[in-house]
Amino acid sequence: MKADYLKGQTVWVSGASSGLGKAIAKAFVQAGCHVAAGARSYRQEEGTQGETGLKLYLDVTNAESVARFKEKAVSAFGAPDVLINCAGILTLAPFETYTLEEIHQVMDTDFYGMVRMCKAAIGPMREKGGGKIVCLSSINGLLGIPYQGAYTAAKHAVEGFAECLAMEVKPFGIQVMLIEPGDHRSGASMYRRHGAGVTRSPLYHPSFENVTQTISHDETHGSDPDRLGRKLAALVGRRRLPMRRCIASPGQKAAVVLHGLLPGRLFSTLIAAYYHTYRR
Ligand SMILES: NC(=O)c1ccc[n+]([C@@H]2O[C@H](COP(=O)([O-])OP(=O)(O)OC[C@H]3O[C@@H](n4cnc5c(N)ncnc54)[C@H](OP(=O)(O)O)[C@@H]3O)[C@@H](O)[C@H]2O)c1
Repeated sequence: MKADYLKGQTVWVSGASSGLGKAIAKAFVQAGCHVAAGARSYRQEEGTQGETGLKLYLDVTNAESVARFKEKAVSAFGAPDVLINCAGILTLAPFETYTLEEIHQVMDTDFYGMVRMCKAAIGPMREKGGGKIVCLSSINGLLGIPYQGAYTAAKHAVEGFAECLAMEVKPFGIQVMLIEPGDHRSGASMYRRHGAGVTRSPLYHPSFENVTQTISHDETHGSDPDRLGRKLAALVGRRRLPMRRCIASPGQKAAVVLHGLLPGRLFSTLIAAYYHTYRR
């Protein structure tokens, strides 16, 4: 069923130039979809077809860029059947050294960027009679990790936003699904930036190094993004989508369950120990 059902469907993917977005766009192209693939680094290749589909320049932090992406995608393939929100950045820093601009940039990309894309897609989907919206959250949408405050806040916002949206647009035949990935080998470590102030402040050393090394190790040894892409294509190919799907290692799934079960301080102590947060 699933691949056949997807054949000929129009799919928009934000953040399609790297990592999970790239793998997802490729999986939908392979399933026979018309994919409008958006990213900032597609500026030079604008309008060309590749393994991720039709490459279009897209900056989700810029409303005009989102409007231009929509215009070009609709003119190429018509209204979207599926929107997959993958565009994201992660800036690591202790809260004390994060600048407000850095926090704002993460929120503007990971949360407001998703909001802009949903606003662009919902009207055409409703007029078409339905559609599917996939929001890339994270394990960090469900629990916190030190030095990922801005990212974790953005992903918690994504979780709440998507739950509300799902109820509002269901009567129009639009389904909303959250994907909560654990560590996957993403395309570009350049997106895992360290806040500018962290190198200037000795206050959180060596704790910050311990945590970022653990994060880097877990991502390097993480799951295969192409596998997630194929899983997501199979899920979206279903008639009815689940509200959320956590695609993570058994250990990470266990952490999510324990987060709901254990007293908060005990859980935080275990997470801090895993990341060697207090080791001096
Ligand atoms: N990898 C993981 O382990 C993991 C785990 C949990 C959740 N996730 C989520 O999955 C999504 C993809 O993560 P990833 O690790 O695969 O990322 P990645 O390899 O770092 O790629 C990020 C993508 O987002 C795009 N992007 C960034 N800012 C953008 C903007 N302003 N406008 C449009 N596109 C923008 C980048 O393209 P350009 O720079 O070309 O614009 C790139 O294609 C994110 O939402 C992330 O939070 C990933």
